[in-house]
Amino acid sequence: MTDLDTRCQRLIDDLGLDGALRSVTPLGGGVASDIAVLDLEERRICAKFALAKLKVMEDWFAPVHRNRAEYEWLRFAGTVVTGAVPGLHGWSAAENGFAMDFVEGREVYLWKEAMLRGEPVRGEAARVGDVLGRIHAASTASGFDDGPFHNRDDFHALRLEPYLIFTATQHPDLAERLNRLAKALFENRAVLIHGDVSPKNILMRGGDPVLLDAECATMGDPAFDVAFCLNHLILKSIHIPTRRNDLLEAIGGFWRAYAAQVVWEEASALEVRVCALLPALMLARVDGKSPVEYLSAVNRGAVRDLSRTLVTEPPTTLADMIGVLR
Ligand SMILES: Nc1ncnc2c1ncn2[C@@H]1O[C@H](COP(=O)(O)OP(=O)(O)O)[C@@H](O)[C@H]1O
Ligand SMILES: [Mg+2]
Repeated sequence: MTDLDTRCQRLIDDLGLDGALRSVTPLGGGVASDIAVLDLEERRICAKFALAKLKVMEDWFAPVHRNRAEYEWLRFAGTVVTGAVPGLHGWSAAENGFAMDFVEGREVYLWKEAMLRGEPVRGEAARVGDVLGRIHAASTASGFDDGPFHNRDDFHALRLEPYLIFTATQHPDLAERLNRLAKALFENRAVLIHGDVSPKNILMRGGDPVLLDAECATMGDPAFDVAFCLNHLILKSIHIPTRRNDLLEAIGGFWRAYAAQVVWEEASALEVRVCALLPALMLARVDGKSPVEYLSAVNRGAVRDLSRTLVTEPPTTLADMIGVLR
């Protein structure tokens, strides 16, 4: 038995789940946690535990309690949009882990993988925009319990520092702008945000998104989730010339669906913040601590030049931003 096997068995016992544990298969991909598929006699589930230290960078630490925040985010999101997250089977304080349904089947694919294979765009972005907008909006309703989501220090360690603040050290002439963006994000606690709305954390199931991996969930600025997700579409549009127009168009589809849910502030004001943040995140994905793995050197250079210009003079609408990107 490996340590992971033992931990999975203890999780099952602690949560009182039925069925003998037949096998444990680690799921690759992530850097923030141990995650595995568990074969129980009748069904398969997925177990996720926080790691004290991320696998990529020596000095990129964050506290393990974010695993609880992830579970609470998933639980809340599932109450807002049925099916938007995997079915949940409980969180264990002792193991700092939780169990959820393993989402699989013919109709299921990881959005990132479909994009990187150059598959046709099938309206995913608009569906994600709609679901994200509903979840954001629900967290601004009176009576929402933000108790588990006072996590801006985690958010600082996992997002602001590696993406914006580190990138500022690589681009001293833009440092003031990048640090100002980071400060504004740190200070805004208006909405429950997911913190990692990346296509690699979104399964599509029968045309609808299933959101995963909410370890960075915190009260924050919803512009972060929007810009973070749109950044992935932009980077893929640069990487995959055959899907370029479709992916840029998908940005508009995302925004229209999302903006229709924005009830807590003027959508146009939020859009201005998204437009200011997007180029900073683009730059962060070439010169920050977590660079994208798929861009060629030429495309990295193109992203760097474009984003540097846009950080200095950001458009105020996504339509204008897409115009520049075309
Ligand atoms: N409940 C699930 N059902 C199916 N696949 C999952 C599930 N949870 C995670 N995965 C797969 O495992 C990968 C890593 O999980 P994730 O929660 O994103 O962990 P990490 O924090 O390590 O990135 C995901 O990108 C997805 O492909
Ligand atoms: Mg992930």
